[in-house]
Amino acid sequence: MKVNNIHYLTIRMEGGSVFMVEQNKLPFEFSIFEAKTYLDTCMAISTMITRGAGAIGAAGGFAMAQAFLEKAPLKQARNEIRNTRPTAQNLFYAIDRVYEAGIKNGTVAAVEEAQKIAAENVEEGRTIGLYGRELVKDGMKVMTHCNAGWLGFVDYGTAVAVIHLAQEQGKKFFVWADETRPRSQGARLTAWELVNAGIDHAIVPDNAGAWLMEKGDVDMIVVGADRIAANGDTANKIGTFEKAIVAKRFNIPFYIAAPFSTFDMSIPDGSHIPIEQRSEDEVHYQTGPDSDGVMHTIRVTAPGANAINPAFDVTPAELITGIITDKGIVKPETKAIAALFNRK
Ligand code: MRU
Repeated sequence: MKVNNIHYLTIRMEGGSVFMVEQNKLPFEFSIFEAKTYLDTCMAISTMITRGAGAIGAAGGFAMAQAFLEKAPLKQARNEIRNTRPTAQNLFYAIDRVYEAGIKNGTVAAVEEAQKIAAENVEEGRTIGLYGRELVKDGMKVMTHCNAGWLGFVDYGTAVAVIHLAQEQGKKFFVWADETRPRSQGARLTAWELVNAGIDHAIVPDNAGAWLMEKGDVDMIVVGADRIAANGDTANKIGTFEKAIVAKRFNIPFYIAAPFSTFDMSIPDGSHIPIEQRSEDEVHYQTGPDSDGVMHTIRVTAPGANAINPAFDVTPAELITGIITDKGIVKPETKAIAALFNRK
């Protein structure tokens, strides 16, 4: 994606360092964070300097390659990288590929494999966008949740790739970006991408979705995924499940957009997907600039109150209209997914 006319990848590796867009500073500051060691990259994944299933996957692969370059104890490093975040399947997919390539063929092969995964990630996003954009018609109002855009992948994204590539066709449509508390990836990151791309949009408070859908103001919902089970049950950012239930109530098509690297074919259904529990501080505190641009973190909940912070939920396959993959759009059914998964 271009920022001030310069093309950036969300994450890339050069020499022994991993360079990533510092997403905790967006939308107020655009900067690049350099992770010099695999432990720096681990920290960047768990603190969400880089985030989103595809970007986490690329980061995990790069971290594993850094561990080879640093001659770190490899099994221990692999475990440390695996333990950064539990839900996104792309992380485990990438770590395993790089680890196996490196064990078999050495450090250069590990680095090459990590670079290959990142390059595939770009292609997958673009292909998903090309399939998905055919669903977007002129005049539509499209809703998305969290950030499954450029920032959540190496480039393009998934759900937002559908939107970006529909715009490339000259289609005129409107996007509802769900706020996505507590970390507000919709309000901060998706909205920033849409402003940057000049796409007509509005941020929707998380609890306003049903009201909009009932009024007939949402024609289609498209979101990303962190892990998809063999039957199509899909883990995505907390709140996705609620949107899918309401969409069903009002007969609104509800699509998941994700590459095959997000599928976990070893689990039959979504009950096996680990759900990350993050710090309650993310619920209690918000960070942003005052009118002079000075950043502050303020408490927005009752002092002394407790909070919970589950980061993902699982939307059952029966609520999903279709999954837009890099091999085409598939029905969320075990047989259909297996057939597409096994197709070369
Ligand atoms: O906690 P995050 O910001 O990493 O969660 C991101 C999401 O849930 C995205 O919707 C998902 O990863 C899909 S594609 C980037």
